[in-house]
Amino acid sequence: MTILVTGGAGFIGSNFIHDWLASTDETVINLDKLTYAGNLGNLRDIEHEPNYMFVRGDIAEVDRIRALLTNFKVRALVHFAAESHVDRSISGPMGFVETNILGTAHLLQAALEHWHRGNAFRFLHVSTDEVFGSLEPEDAPFVESSPYRPNSPYAASKAASDHLVRAYGETYGLPVLITHCSNNYGPYHFPEKLIPLLIHNATSGKQLPLYGDGMQVRDWLYVGDHCRALRMVLADGRPGQTYNIGGNAERQNIEVARTICAMLDDYLPLLDGGSYSSQIMLVRDRPGHDRRYAIDNTKLRSELGWSPLLSFDEGITKTVEWYLENPTWTAAVTGGSYRDWVAEQYT
Ligand code: NAD
Ligand code: TYD
Repeated sequence: MTILVTGGAGFIGSNFIHDWLASTDETVINLDKLTYAGNLGNLRDIEHEPNYMFVRGDIAEVDRIRALLTNFKVRALVHFAAESHVDRSISGPMGFVETNILGTAHLLQAALEHWHRGNAFRFLHVSTDEVFGSLEPEDAPFVESSPYRPNSPYAASKAASDHLVRAYGETYGLPVLITHCSNNYGPYHFPEKLIPLLIHNATSGKQLPLYGDGMQVRDWLYVGDHCRALRMVLADGRPGQTYNIGGNAERQNIEVARTICAMLDDYLPLLDGGSYSSQIMLVRDRPGHDRRYAIDNTKLRSELGWSPLLSFDEGITKTVEWYLENPTWTAAVTGGSYRDWVAEQYT
């Protein structure tokens, strides 16, 4: 049996593949276009495993997807591939429309044909809590039935893809599952997102930019806990259902920055005895910046018995330690050499 993962060279996809190979013998095929966010360095340690295969390709290449689904008798597809950074969606939304909406539509069409040929199949669409929009401080966390109110082009493109996935389930009976997860953090996180950016900038003597007043709230989940939840949803989730995934770890951005600075003050004291927190700087706000996200994960806990294994304090400690122990990974990304291998292999 084989599963097909899309976007497996990105942050969560590569963590998922590690988690998958550590917990099952089932073969996993990783289809990834290797955009700027795709990094085969994330998978270096498992790239020669007999039950792992990498294919460079776009989710919109329907013929290629069809061939993979048929030739490898794929029994499930886990769809991570996306443009994922809100700031980039503000400066250039069309790539988000192309991959997140049109790409998902192509993938669904190929999946539907595969399933119509009588193959046992499940389509797990990895989505985000950002489709629900922004919460006020007094609001209850998002539940699965919260209304869709996406605010950024990224969130809107993910919302559109969710609707397509759901429609393929309702209209054609395709066994689809949708998950809405809160903000992830952990190893292999591209240093354009808040947590790895803060760690990288702090240790490089750069400013730690916080948008607006820095009081926006995100509900953080360690990526390993997300991956385990996805495995459980894939195995036992009910087709047609959506599941919220979140760690009950709401933090203001400024708190996250201060926590990271305090840890670095211990691990890597500054020579002048000062604190990394003096590098924190409030900068111009992101347009349309969502104030607060928070996830109610009751359904996942009660139906599938999932709960996060790591608290935010444990997860952030593991994460800061990982970045301090893997400076070459970050240097390859920020210096651009993580693309060399792609250039050698594919040009
Ligand atoms: P990422 O940007 O790190 O990785 C995306 C991957 O998709 C990259 O490897 C990229 O090369 C690949 N890709 C992009 N366009 C492609 C295409 N057209 N065809 C094939 N591959 C393509 O993203 P991530 O943070 O790992 O997020 C993965 C998924 O999880 C996304 O769908 C995102 O919406 C969702 N999600 C992310 C978070 C988070 O906190 N990062 C939270 C909830 C949900
Ligand atoms: P980000 O990691 O981009 O994830 P998302 O926008 O999908 O939640 O941002 C997390 C939070 O951190 C969000 O409120 C925006 C904020 N942020 C900053 O304040 N400064 C930064 O440099 C970045 C990248 C994000």
